[in-house]
Amino acid sequence: MSEVAKTSTDVATLAFEGKELALKVVEGSEQEKAIDIAALRAQTGLITLDEGYVNTGATTSSICFLDGERGILRYRGYSIEDLARNCDFLEICFLLIYGELPTEEEFANFRDSIRRHTMLHEDMRLFYNGFPRDAHPMASLSSVVSAMSTFYQDSLDPNDPKQVEISIYRLLAKLPTIAAFSHKKSIGQPFIYPDNNLSYCENFLKMMHAVPCEEYRIDPDFVQALNLLLIVHADHEQNCSTSTVRMVGSSNANLFASIAAGICALWGPLHGGANEACVAMLERIREDNGDVAKYVKMAKDKDNNFRLMGFGHRVYKNFDPRATIIKAACDRLLAKLKVDDPLFKIAQELESVALNDEYFVQRKLYPNVDFYSGVIYRALGIPMQMFTVLFAMGRLPGWIAHWKEMHASPGKKICRPRQVYTGPTLREFVPLKKRS
Ligand code: ACO
Repeated sequence: MSEVAKTSTDVATLAFEGKELALKVVEGSEQEKAIDIAALRAQTGLITLDEGYVNTGATTSSICFLDGERGILRYRGYSIEDLARNCDFLEICFLLIYGELPTEEEFANFRDSIRRHTMLHEDMRLFYNGFPRDAHPMASLSSVVSAMSTFYQDSLDPNDPKQVEISIYRLLAKLPTIAAFSHKKSIGQPFIYPDNNLSYCENFLKMMHAVPCEEYRIDPDFVQALNLLLIVHADHEQNCSTSTVRMVGSSNANLFASIAAGICALWGPLHGGANEACVAMLERIREDNGDVAKYVKMAKDKDNNFRLMGFGHRVYKNFDPRATIIKAACDRLLAKLKVDDPLFKIAQELESVALNDEYFVQRKLYPNVDFYSGVIYRALGIPMQMFTVLFAMGRLPGWIAHWKEMHASPGKKICRPRQVYTGPTLREFVPLKKRS
């Protein structure tokens, strides 16, 4: 559950129309301060305006801490570096959702509960017959997750902890199966059913890559790389998709509906879709004779809406610690596999040109998590359209944790921002026939 933020001894004062208003200041556990403006409208008639929520704290939360200036990311107080080095992805799921790292016994029970739910209902499998073969797997993913509400009507009540618990197991267990089926559909291969003897990552890789007519050997390096990728994507506080999950959940929509909405939000190229857009951009540069300088110039040109995908972040204005972890893993994996990926070379060149360019330095634009993740996914044999699907698999425990935290909060309210209206004032109605 979210800890209540301390009320600081500081007070902020707002002067408006000759009056002064004292506003409470709240303080988080990392000494971050925020002005509590909940009473502002009642006392002054004013609202705050902050397009894109660049400076708006939507909630208090005890799940994830990030400090964009210092490049810090922690889940429940543990550094991302420690977790990425030492944990299995399912331990991270447990940590995010329940607040503590599991004991051995808790972990074994959690894994078993998830394993029991990996299969899809056979009728759910039939959805894939209806989707066009070239459907984007993010579209199939969100549709099938949304359709879980039709199959599991026994667990839709967000206020019943038992129903929520089983929905959590079902989501964590089935998302890899749904994702792998979307891929198999797109390449016309038979679906590979889950194998509950395997670990979470092994099972996913098998469902993605195995075919019924050949033995599939799971590469432990692939398993390790996938585990790491899922961990670094697992949570990132109030990002666009997590805020969407909270927003939808705040109306008491069920967990499946809320997660399906989060998947749709993640799909956009300014958010999770950036990993796919980044590799597409690297491909484009390669086809253009690897002319990195040309693309850097285009990104700087204000008359051109081209941006360097995988660069910049709303919060990280120093470096993205996830990008550092992934880059090291990428170096290790490509060296081990002896892969000579031209896109990786272009990525390295682009990184070094941009990091030394005044435009990027001044705006504090650094490579983000998506910059290298696509290159690793390629090395794992994951097709480009599936990159954001893997991001969704990683982010799922974070979405669930935030959804649960919101419901457990004593101050839970439906999310309903206000606006400053700029349209026409009252106009006289003109009947259809008299309109010119
Ligand atoms: N390439 C070129 N210029 C950029 C880039 C970029 N990737 N990102 C920002 N800028 C420039 C902007 O043009 C702007 O310049 P100006 O001040 O001269 O007008 C300045 O840097 C600030 O940019 P904003 O868009 O205001 O920054 P914001 O915090 O709103 O956006 C965002 C962050 C959306 C991530 C942006 O940097 C971007 O579009 N990056 C590319 C897409 C991407 O990689 N997204 C993944 C984010 S990580 C994630 O979701 C997992």
